[in-house]
Amino acid sequence: KARVSKCNNIILIGFMGTGKTTVGKLLAQRIGYRFVDTDQVIEQEVGLSIPEIFLKYGEQHFRQLEKQAIRRILTRSGMVLATGGGAVMDPANFSFLKEKGCVIALDASENTLWERLKAAKDRPMLFSDNPREKMKSLLEMRRPVYYKAHFVLPVDGKSPQEVVDDIIAII
Ligand code: S3P
Repeated sequence: KARVSKCNNIILIGFMGTGKTTVGKLLAQRIGYRFVDTDQVIEQEVGLSIPEIFLKYGEQHFRQLEKQAIRRILTRSGMVLATGGGAVMDPANFSFLKEKGCVIALDASENTLWERLKAAKDRPMLFSDNPREKMKSLLEMRRPVYYKAHFVLPVDGKSPQEVVDDIIAII
């Protein structure tokens, strides 16, 4: 099979709502890689949704599950992996991901993210009396970390297909 990319795996990182899952699925279809989503793997394994896992076991436990899932998933190649928005806040996770593939950060403005996330009920990190402020402070804390990816790709105003085209030009 012809190699379509020098990247053994393509790993999408970035804040909630940047489109990692949507773009990842489309990209995988386009280049014939397998799509995997860490959150989906964790949900299947535990048999609970992400918000249920946070509620029942807490964030710290979720982070342990996430760390284990990332290590288990990336024993193979030919994969497009969508990670959870907090996955790379653990420096060990981030360096592991960078060893295993090309890490692309999807980057959106605060306004774009809020438009996409304000109605979401499935993002426990934003459960707060003031979710807008919570989002802003999380984003400010995390953005400098996302910028350490191999590539940073702005997504504001782009359709998922356009983001996929941009990624294909990079990889
Ligand atoms: C999280 C993002 C979520 C999910 C969990 C925690 C975060 O994934 O892993 O709710 O800390 O940013 P998405 O980025 O796919 O929403």
